[in-house]
Amino acid sequence: MDRTTIRERLLAAAREGAARAYAPYSHFPVGAAVMLPDGTIVIGCNVENASYGLSVCAERVALWSAVAQGYRDFVAMAVIVPSGSPCGACRQVMSELCPPDMPVWVETEDGTVREFTVAELLPAAFRREDLG
Ligand code: THU
Repeated sequence: MDRTTIRERLLAAAREGAARAYAPYSHFPVGAAVMLPDGTIVIGCNVENASYGLSVCAERVALWSAVAQGYRDFVAMAVIVPSGSPCGACRQVMSELCPPDMPVWVETEDGTVREFTVAELLPAAFRREDLG
């Protein structure tokens, strides 16, 4: 699959995720989609809670769902976030589970798409190697 197809499929899946967002408190819908080496896509959305601090971001829902489904290898990710900036906690989780050079496409509310690598999103990340 070529890079443009991967990007378009992931962005479409992330938009689907955003449409599933459970965000009755923030009204800030976020969608994420991560691709496995065989092209399978796992979708996530933010899921909020009346106990606000329990809310979880779309990116973590996508990655953790994929891990729960038995997947460990990821090749690319897309996020639809109105502000265009994935949160720091999600950047840390991406750094844990995804290769540093993996592309992450981030689409904002106005449809602008920016491409980052996982390492660009969180330079000098704290990684498992740091634990010795
Ligand atoms: N949110 C995400 O899902 N991903 C991010 O990267 C930024 C924030 C969610 C969490 C919460 O449900 C809402 O957006 C407002 O912070």
